[in-house]
Amino acid sequence: MTKESVLRDNFGSRFGIIAATAGSAVGLGNIWKFPYVAGENGGGAFLLIYLFFVLAIGVPVMMSEFAIGRRGQKNAYGSFGVIAPGKRWNLIGLMGVVAAFFILAFYSSVAGWTLQYIVSSVSHSFAGQSIADLENTFNTLIVNPIKPVVWQLVFMVLTALIVLAGIKKGIEKYTKLLMPLLLLLIIVLCIRSVTLEGGKAGLEFLFKPDFSKVTAKTFLYALGQAFFSLSLGMGALITYSSYFSKKENLASTAVSVALSDSLIAILAGVMIFPAVFAFGIEPTCGPSLVFITLPGIFQQMFWGDFFGTIFFILLTVAALTSTISLLEVVVAFLSEELKISRKKATVIATLSVSVLGIFASLSFGTLKGVTIFGKSIFDVLDYTASNVLLPLGGLFIVLFVGWFGGKKIIKSELSNEGTLRVRYYPYFNFIVKFIAPFAIAAIFIYCIFWGGL
Ligand code: PFF
Repeated sequence: MTKESVLRDNFGSRFGIIAATAGSAVGLGNIWKFPYVAGENGGGAFLLIYLFFVLAIGVPVMMSEFAIGRRGQKNAYGSFGVIAPGKRWNLIGLMGVVAAFFILAFYSSVAGWTLQYIVSSVSHSFAGQSIADLENTFNTLIVNPIKPVVWQLVFMVLTALIVLAGIKKGIEKYTKLLMPLLLLLIIVLCIRSVTLEGGKAGLEFLFKPDFSKVTAKTFLYALGQAFFSLSLGMGALITYSSYFSKKENLASTAVSVALSDSLIAILAGVMIFPAVFAFGIEPTCGPSLVFITLPGIFQQMFWGDFFGTIFFILLTVAALTSTISLLEVVVAFLSEELKISRKKATVIATLSVSVLGIFASLSFGTLKGVTIFGKSIFDVLDYTASNVLLPLGGLFIVLFVGWFGGKKIIKSELSNEGTLRVRYYPYFNFIVKFIAPFAIAAIFIYCIFWGGL
């Protein structure tokens, strides 16, 4: 063992590994994005296609990322450098670091709103507001030049404090507490929602597939959503798996993480759609679903502010366990590649992401006029990361694993150096070599030429 690998921090337990990795996967993508994307794309049919992609493509890509990170024992960029020395594959890792940087900048802006919504729910500020009033409240918040920025910075500081404490004493310790809390909160809200009168129609919408609504676009949205939700195609899972124990079974970890992530997305649907139907609202109302429609529903509910507060705490917790993983990608890269301390790297990463993040936050109001290719700063960051860098990163990862030299190393990692049986390997290899590159290339081409997801 090299001196460096002895000094490197690691996750201390299997539960810690699952909590941290599922924490990265479960986020705003599950609770904010999944319900509205499913709502706009036909409910049950979308869910089925989504689950198929998670298992058939998401899990093999996740296993590939785990294998690269654990073998490389370094950040996303450095791990490729170790596995394929002298080749340019490490640029994939670099792209991942840039993607993490961009995602964190706009994601922390939305995460900041969730903090404001906790305070508003606790202080009963939504009391008596109609949906139109709530729309106004939301629009007033996001154009405000100060409030969203302050909340975003608070969120970044919280994220940085956890990352600063390290892998075992920071990320693992907190995700082990936060993930069970998240599950508890979402179950409480699901029970509330399904027991509402008229809520059954919401469950039908989510679970009864209506294939007449399915188009080619549905498939692309489902795969794109699966990638974002599982944190694939960028450095997060490569970075986390570089802290996994050599005994960890990578395939079973990937399956557990993918199932937990899907379970939370389904529970988010179970929590939201019955309430939406019970109060006679259209399920297709888009991104404003959780910030306008849901507070409206809570207002009409008995103990609404209590359930509203729980809901926004849930969103905050989900976002926090994801922002930690995004910041870790950048911190691990800076500290290992520039050979600076973790503390210095965390400060540099947090400050620079925050500066970009402030621009993203202000792009709804003060900087509304600043556009790039007709998009606001927030949308440019989201578009570049989610529609360009993630699919491209995923594509190169599967090409590397399936076609270019990564194969032997991956097999040895998946089998823990030959000590585990990997009967699934031929299937895995087939998917990674033929199916995944084709499917990912399809989303990528669609995103670039037809304007994105
Ligand atoms: N998977 C997270 C979510 O669903 O909200 C978002 C995310 C986190 C994407 C970390 C990418 C990443 F590296």
